[in-house]
Amino acid sequence: MQRTVSHLAAPWTSSGPLAPGRILRKNELAAYAREDAMAYDLNQFITDCRDILARDPGPGGREQVRINLERLLGNSDFVETYCGDSVPRGLNVLYEDPKLGFQILAHINDKARVSPPHDHGASWAIYGQATKYTDMIEWEREDDGKDPNQAKLKPVKKYRLTPGKAGIYQDGAIHSIDYPDYARFVRVTGTNLDKIDRIKIDLKTGAVEKMYAQQAT
Ligand SMILES: [Fe+2]
Repeated sequence: MQRTVSHLAAPWTSSGPLAPGRILRKNELAAYAREDAMAYDLNQFITDCRDILARDPGPGGREQVRINLERLLGNSDFVETYCGDSVPRGLNVLYEDPKLGFQILAHINDKARVSPPHDHGASWAIYGQATKYTDMIEWEREDDGKDPNQAKLKPVKKYRLTPGKAGIYQDGAIHSIDYPDYARFVRVTGTNLDKIDRIKIDLKTGAVEKMYAQQAT
């Protein structure tokens, strides 16, 4: 099927605007489709996060950030550039907002890992899968939460994040993650988690321990 410029939402190419009504040649259409897919990049995501979270730092704004993170992860150029094989291993900070404090982090893992249940303290966190998958468990406390040293947890939700999917964990929510070798993900947090108190819980003993800088994700 031939598509004309007027059928496209944004009739621009790298060489400028296309005249309305002109029929796109096959190679132009392919180029346009490529540009369209590449359009949502890290800079645009940062700009959107700033605008959204300045307007609504609550659950509504975070949900918009989560949806935009899925859009960003749909950009294969972004995934290759920031989560591909040539990227240094470890935790890479892609952006920290000087005013609002949120961070965008790329977790470039080579080795599989199972984390203990943990919270993100007074912050929220959004996990977006870039490669492979992450099995998530969300937990709730069965105790009253008053004992700082002991907790009793029950799993309330289990699911798998696959590439392009993002999950949100609100302030104080407890979750655990389990991923295979080469699973990589992008995380957006409300603040730098290294600077706030967080806890992890030993499932066997129920012992609550403080978490230290980047000890777990
Ligand atoms: Fe986490």
